Amino acid sequence: MYVLTIETTCDETAAAVVTDQLEVRGAVVASQARLHEQFGGVVPEIASRAHVERIVPVIDETLRKAGIGLTDLDAIAVAHTPGLVGSLLVGVTAAKSLALALDVPLVAVNHLQAHIYACRMTDGPGVFPCVGLIVSGGHTNLYRCDGPLGFELLASTIDDAAGEAFDKVASMLGLPYPGGPSIQRAAATGDPTRFDLPRAFAHDPQRLAFSFSGLKTAVRYQLAPPGSKLPDPATLEPQLVADLAASFQEAVVDALATKTAHALDRCAMSTLCVGGGVAANARLRERLQELCERRGARLHVAPLALCTDNAVMGAIAVERLLAGERDSLDVGVSPAPERL
Ligand code: KG4
Ligand code: ZN
Repeated sequence: MYVLTIETTCDETAAAVVTDQLEVRGAVVASQARLHEQFGGVVPEIASRAHVERIVPVIDETLRKAGIGLTDLDAIAVAHTPGLVGSLLVGVTAAKSLALALDVPLVAVNHLQAHIYACRMTDGPGVFPCVGLIVSGGHTNLYRCDGPLGFELLASTIDDAAGEAFDKVASMLGLPYPGGPSIQRAAATGDPTRFDLPRAFAHDPQRLAFSFSGLKTAVRYQLAPPGSKLPDPATLEPQLVADLAASFQEAVVDALATKTAHALDRCAMSTLCVGGGVAANARLRERLQELCERRGARLHVAPLALCTDNAVMGAIAVERLLAGERDSLDVGVSPAPERL
């Protein structure tokens, strides 16, 4: 069985062909990072237009890589929530059109479940049951995952996502977009203890929620007191930038690691799966590795290409197909992170 999976939730146009044995036959990701770079963040209107231009070539290239034609497909899967509505609509419309024209089943997948499934794709079925941590530009969520389809939301951020905070702080410090990799690079020569930055709800194990907006403001106040304008980043001392980047990164990583440990306790689980763009952060990986070693737990972090948005993780559709689940052609899109 060949399943075409489509991913257009944010700013990557991606497709993959996977089999019912979860073999990846072909995968393509067309990143829009260069289109959004000059704006310091994803511009939804630009993202939707770029998806429209790229979706057909990306699907064609994926089928070419897989060495199959459209008529060889047995099902079409697409991420339909959460994400930017305009972006989601492009992928979902393409998927519905193909399912209708080819007369094959349509399976809509939740993008956040798919992020955790990226660990299943690399490390096998033993990753479940687990606690799932998703840290991306749009989401910072903890899940209890009893199986590939049995997800329960434990906590999320009450304001900014971790990646969003990386991007905003990088912009204040004059570091290039996307902010995560730039902050990580700048932090390498910085002192993570120079600035005492907040870790929201750190001392309350009952409260698994994250908050990064106060941390972002705390960084801003180190650069300019309340009420005054931010300085031109070009005038900032390189060592100040490095130290603030390192202190900020440490605060985010600390908050993520602390809450994740509480979630493992609460679920009495000894496996942790991590996905999303921020999972690429070396300091976060190091801290989570230490945490798991201390507890005798197993850590699964997808390789970089499967941490950021991709269509391979959409292979979670195979689980739904094998469970006899399908979606109708009037399935909708939803921007909100839904309770899974
Ligand atoms: O999962 P993703 O590719 O897209 C979303 O669904 O949001 O995540 C993108 C986010 C951006 O905010 C980016 O700054 C962050 O992941 N990111 C990182 C690193 N690499 C990417 N954050 C921290 N450290 C990194 N090395
Ligand atoms: Zn994502």
